[in-house]
Amino acid sequence: MAKISKKKLKPRATQASDHRATIDEAFANLAGLDAKSLARLRTPVEAVIRALDSGLIRVCERTNDGAWQTNEWVKKAILLYFRLQKMRSIKAGSLEFFDKIAPKKWSGREGVRVVPHAIARYGSFVASGAILMPSYVNIGAYVGPGTLVDTWATVGSCAQVGANCHISGGVGLGGVLEPVQASPVIIEDHVFLGSRAIVVEGVIVKTGAVIGAGVALTASTKIIDVSGPAPVESRGMVPENSVVIPGSIAKKFAAGEFGVSCALIIGKRKESTDKKTSLNQVLRDYNVSV
Ligand SMILES: CC(C)(COP(=O)(O)OP(=O)(O)OC[C@H]1O[C@@H](n2cnc3c(N)ncnc32)[C@H](O)[C@@H]1OP(=O)(O)O)[C@@H](O)C(=O)NCCC(=O)NCCS
Repeated sequence: MAKISKKKLKPRATQASDHRATIDEAFANLAGLDAKSLARLRTPVEAVIRALDSGLIRVCERTNDGAWQTNEWVKKAILLYFRLQKMRSIKAGSLEFFDKIAPKKWSGREGVRVVPHAIARYGSFVASGAILMPSYVNIGAYVGPGTLVDTWATVGSCAQVGANCHISGGVGLGGVLEPVQASPVIIEDHVFLGSRAIVVEGVIVKTGAVIGAGVALTASTKIIDVSGPAPVESRGMVPENSVVIPGSIAKKFAAGEFGVSCALIIGKRKESTDKKTSLNQVLRDYNVSV
């Protein structure tokens, strides 16, 4: 039997995380990095971005207790990658761009439908069964299996989107690349985000939630559950299966009282909600192109 070297048995993910200490150390000493030490970082940093690009590692991962844990060292590697990369001309057919990060390459083996001119940047990962309508997925972002990213939706750097989500047209998911310790925007599995909804600043949308068209969720947005006898206010997280619509709340300012926007949880997902949000499944069942 052919002898397999230990090196070959080692999973690539482990190889990427082997560079963690080097990256942490370099990042802690950013100001003192001269050209030579920066050049020495190219191999480890590129290994991390390659592992990100192929989905072997993620910026943020779910722990066994369901919480999300940010891998700061991976974010640091992305920031170092920006430093290492030179601006250059990037050609796509007769189109030409000028940037540091190449677009992601597709062979067809990924099982992802990439409708022209969807762009995912190198260092993002899109799982099999996902559909990218003409949209944008930035470096460090993760798009789970079976998820539809509809036209003009943007998945910001490091944003994490779970499985079988419907990200409607024009949705804006902010990424949180900096500060490195901050949690990115997280959209868990089976979430529906209505047209032009915005989720930024590390807000977490839990499994099965339905975010109505035009809802904007920042870390400061009041999320008020109005489905019970009294309003219940929170921020930063939408609970599982909640149906959220845009609302407004009166706020006193020096100049008087004004309405500021908020998000209202009007109840839990029901059959009628599912009907309104089932476009994703129709697309899959009938291979409909939108
Ligand atoms: C959130 C949403 C799915 C509705 O969820 P639902 O559980 O079916 O809610 P209902 O229609 O039963 O509405 C419950 C109440 O909230 C109100 N409401 C629901 N969605 C609302 C919205 N987006 N804005 C304001 N009010 C809304 C309804 O008027 C209704 O009030 P009523 O009982 O006085 O009539 C829907 O409003 C929505 O935003 N869909 C997104 C569509 C979209 O973007 N598609 C993109 C792909 S094409």
